[in-house]
Formats: sequence, structure tokens, C-alpha cells
Amino acid sequence: MAENMIELRNVEKHFGGVQALRGVTMNVPAGKVTAIIGDNGAGKSTLIKCLSGIHEPTSGELLVDGAPVKIASPRDSRALGIETVYQDLAVIDTLTVVENLYLSRELRIGVWPFQLLNRKKMKRGSAEMLKRIGNTTLSLTQEIGGMSGGQRQAVAICRAVAWGAKVVIFDEPTAALGVKESAEVHTLIASLRDQGITVILISHNFEEVMGLADLIWVMRQGRALTSRTASETSGQELVALLTGAEAAQ
Ligand SMILES: Nc1ncnc2c1ncn2[C@@H]1O[C@H](COP(=O)(O)OP(=O)(O)OP(=O)(O)O)[C@@H](O)[C@H]1O
Ligand SMILES: [Mg+2]
Repeated sequence: MAENMIELRNVEKHFGGVQALRGVTMNVPAGKVTAIIGDNGAGKSTLIKCLSGIHEPTSGELLVDGAPVKIASPRDSRALGIETVYQDLAVIDTLTVVENLYLSRELRIGVWPFQLLNRKKMKRGSAEMLKRIGNTTLSLTQEIGGMSGGQRQAVAICRAVAWGAKVVIFDEPTAALGVKESAEVHTLIASLRDQGITVILISHNFEEVMGLADLIWVMRQGRALTSRTASETSGQELVALLTGAEAAQ
């Protein structure tokens, strides 16, 4: 495995006249949690969307596990082992936990066109998936719509890792969650790292970043300004870097 699971070299993304990314060069070390912080409009989500195949960079290079790649669609991204967990879009309300976990990967029995869903096997598989992320409390047949934000997030994370993700990207995973639910998501993120999965975490919450991240990248105005390891920085320094205060220059 390469030292850096992901590398971006001089990545630019233009939307018409808007330069969302102005040459981002960034490394994401394998098996660690890398946080990306930055003010509104700094380009964080655009960067993530270039990795998850929603946008294609206008120019620049992407490397995954040391090899140059082209990510032209979410399918390409997933094939490279990259899964993205969004706060709201992650799960479908009207489906159960099992149905969400096996969404577009349903197991069937029989030979087409005489096929049935193999519900028993999917239920067993779902229980195993949840156990693997340390969650044994979710009801498998409950519809997602009636669940709390933290529970929904757990299902989304579970689905991301169950299918062999090497990289899991979180864009503001706890922005809409309460204290207890946020703590559960933090535990899950830490457990992903402990399993050797590379995590990218976008967050506006400094406590969350300082508590979880190994490496912190600061973005400003479409550029990756600088990085710090969590142990060599402080919340105060990060605020200064973020806002461009003199002291941090
Ligand atoms: N699809 C798009 N079309 C045009 N401009 C866009 C598009 N997506 C993003 N932008 C612009 O690119 C810039 C970066 O936006 P982006 O969403 O990446 O910022 P962000 O760092 O995620 O901000 P926030 O913290 O508010 O989520 C902004 O100026 C934004 O208006
Ligand atoms: Mg954003």
C-alpha cells in the first residue's frame, strides 16, 4: 500500500467563470483520518466531489494508492474503493435498514426471469455488517424514515464500509446531529481508522477535528494552504490559519 492513499496534484475546477479549485496539491495518508477545514466557499465540497465522481477536475492529477486515475463517475470512484457519506442523501427513508444496505446490490435466488429477492440471506448479511461496525441495536426491518440522525448515519457508514471501501469520505457528518449522536459517529470514524480504512473528514467543528484527525489540511479560496499534524497544532492556530490572521503567516 502506498504511504498516501490519495494525492492531488495541482487540481483545478472551474464552473464557468468561477474558479472553485485553483490548483490544489494535497496528500491523504493511508489508514489515517485527514480533516479538511476551511471557510464557506473555500472549495472543500468541490474537492470531495472530484474524488466521488460527481465533478471531473478541469485540470490536474489524481492518484489513488500511488497510481494515476481518472474518476469520471460515482461508479469509477466506488470501483477504486472510495465511498462518500453525505448527511442527508446517504439513505432512503422509505426503505428498511436491510434494503438500504443492499441497495442496488440486492441478492436474488433463481434464474432470470424467475427471480426472487433472497431476503433471508440479506437479513443475515445485514446483521453481520452492523456487527462489524459495532452496532447491534438497530432493528433490521425498521424503515429509515423513523430513525434519528445518528442511526441514519450509522446505516450509511455501515453500507460504505461493508462493500470493501478503502477510503470513506465524510462531508460534515455531524452538522445536523445532537451531542450524543455526534459522539456515536465519532466512535464509528475512529473504529474505521482502527480497521485500516483511510478517512477524509470535512468539518467546521474544531473539537471534532482536533479529537479525530491525524492530519489537518487548511483550505482557503480554492487552495490547500497548508497542513498540520494534530499533535503539532492547536485550535487557536487553526482558526488563525483559516481566517488568514497575521499571527499564522
Ligand atoms: N456546481 C457549481 N456551480 C457553480 N459554482 C459552484 C458549484 N459548486 C460550487 N461552486 C462555487 O465554488 C466555490 C466553492 O464551493 P464549495 O461548495 O466547494 O465550498 P465549501 O468549502 O464546501 O463551502 P461550505 O463550507 O459552505 O460547504 C464557491 O464559490 C461556490 O459558489
Ligand atoms: Mg461544503
